[in-house]
Amino acid sequence: MTNMKTRNAPPRAGMLIESLRGLGYTTATAIADIIDNSISAGARTVDVHVEWAGSNSWIRITDDGCGMDDAGLEKAMQLGASDPRHARRTDDLGRFGMGLKTASFSQARALTVRSRKAGCESACLRWDLDVLEDILGGDWPMIEGPRPGSEERLSIEGAGTVVLWEDLDRIVTPGFTSDDLFEVLDTVERHLAMVFHRLIGTASGQIDLKLNGKRVKPWDPFLMGNLSKRLESLEYSLIGAPEVRVQLNVLPHKDKFESAADFDAAAGPDGWTSQQGFYIYRNRRLLAVSGWLRLGERGRQWPRDEAHRLARIRLDIPNTMDSEWNINVLKSTASPPVRLRPQLLRLAKETREMARSVYAFRGRLISDGAHGKEGMPDIWEAIKRSSGATAYRLSRQHDLYRSVMDRAGPLAKDIEALLRLVEGTVPVQRIWLDTAEDDEPPESILDEEADPALVEMMEAMFDALVHSRGLSEAEARERLARTRPFDKRPDLIAGLGEK
Ligand SMILES: Nc1ncnc2c1ncn2[C@@H]1O[C@H](COP(=O)(O)OP(=O)(O)O)[C@@H](O)[C@H]1O
Ligand SMILES: [Mg+2]
Repeated sequence: MTNMKTRNAPPRAGMLIESLRGLGYTTATAIADIIDNSISAGARTVDVHVEWAGSNSWIRITDDGCGMDDAGLEKAMQLGASDPRHARRTDDLGRFGMGLKTASFSQARALTVRSRKAGCESACLRWDLDVLEDILGGDWPMIEGPRPGSEERLSIEGAGTVVLWEDLDRIVTPGFTSDDLFEVLDTVERHLAMVFHRLIGTASGQIDLKLNGKRVKPWDPFLMGNLSKRLESLEYSLIGAPEVRVQLNVLPHKDKFESAADFDAAAGPDGWTSQQGFYIYRNRRLLAVSGWLRLGERGRQWPRDEAHRLARIRLDIPNTMDSEWNINVLKSTASPPVRLRPQLLRLAKETREMARSVYAFRGRLISDGAHGKEGMPDIWEAIKRSSGATAYRLSRQHDLYRSVMDRAGPLAKDIEALLRLVEGTVPVQRIWLDTAEDDEPPESILDEEADPALVEMMEAMFDALVHSRGLSEAEARERLARTRPFDKRPDLIAGLGEK
């Protein structure tokens, strides 16, 4: 540096901020970014208040987190308050040291923050675009204290922080009415309910988030614990990145919802088709519903289409992997490192196939022996325990089970005991490890079964359907044709009962 000629070329404050206003935040994502800071500051309650007053409308986000002292607040108000390359506390939701400013200016011309750290005086600082705009040199004059008349909007009790947005020129545009504001509020509520769904609520350890006095209820994209779901997998670790966790879900067919309203509620803010694919979380905060992450087959990326709308995959990444995952400033996109893509592809493929079959074959899981028109239940069922763990059991509705038990006599108790042993010892982790590096979904030994064995099994089931269940031979054949693993062998099914 010593013999290098340099010039000082600071950006003009007004112009730089003016251009940062167009980063692409919405009101909802901007508010969420401010709430991230509250959560990182250990807040237990966060209060979002939106006040309608025409062109004098304002928005305030109040938290009871650790707060900042005067020096801390001054630093927080600077653009680039912290180095994005530095390691963060693992529970920190921030990254670039920009969010507070960029999110605020995307919506408002004036940003005032008042904060108090336990044992300190409160501090209050403000950026005002009307002031910065007129600065010609490289100065960045930050103003001490609230806008005249705004003092009472910034009162705080105890420790915590108040972020106040005034002059909402990007929201209250010409012609904007209070009705439009209601719509904005609705969008904000749905967005917050989604992105913070694993963090908010009334249980201990959760954050109490309110929007205009109303508690924001979490929206769970995965309907965890819903017994009609076709798939609710265990949580898996990726090989080579054990901190990355994946959990697969296939939501129930429309007909399995109790009401149309329930089905609509499960769709999510952007509707069923948009809400499919990977949900990427960082510290349990949803960054983005990312669709299929540009994964695909045969050189084509999977689109978000109707047929796969029931597939939703939860992906948890640690904040130590931000750069590897290309987290952007808006925290709205992320993309997986190349080395993890094959594993993600395999998991996505499995989930998508299952989702597609649920979508296409409604009632596949409904046991409806009386009519014999529906496929029979799959032999394995995933059951969500109240503890949160998933257990796998054999379906007691399955025709083969029923027909064996009908004929078992005194052995029935022993057979039941054997099944329970099998169910209780499914080596789920082991299967996962053994198959995680394969490209194809794990093979069933049934697929390899020599035809005679498969035929024998098929004949036993066919027999049971016709003799114990009273189906016609044609009905029994039709039913087998929809039952795994026989559905892959129409050639064998056609020959049943013809002798
Ligand atoms: N509500 C808050 N409570 C306590 N500290 C805060 C709050 N909001 C912001 N800060 C401080 O300001 C810094 C800058 O915030 P921000 O511009 O959002 O960037 P980042 O969140 O990426 O660090 C944060 O790292 C934090 O130290
Ligand atoms: Mg932040």
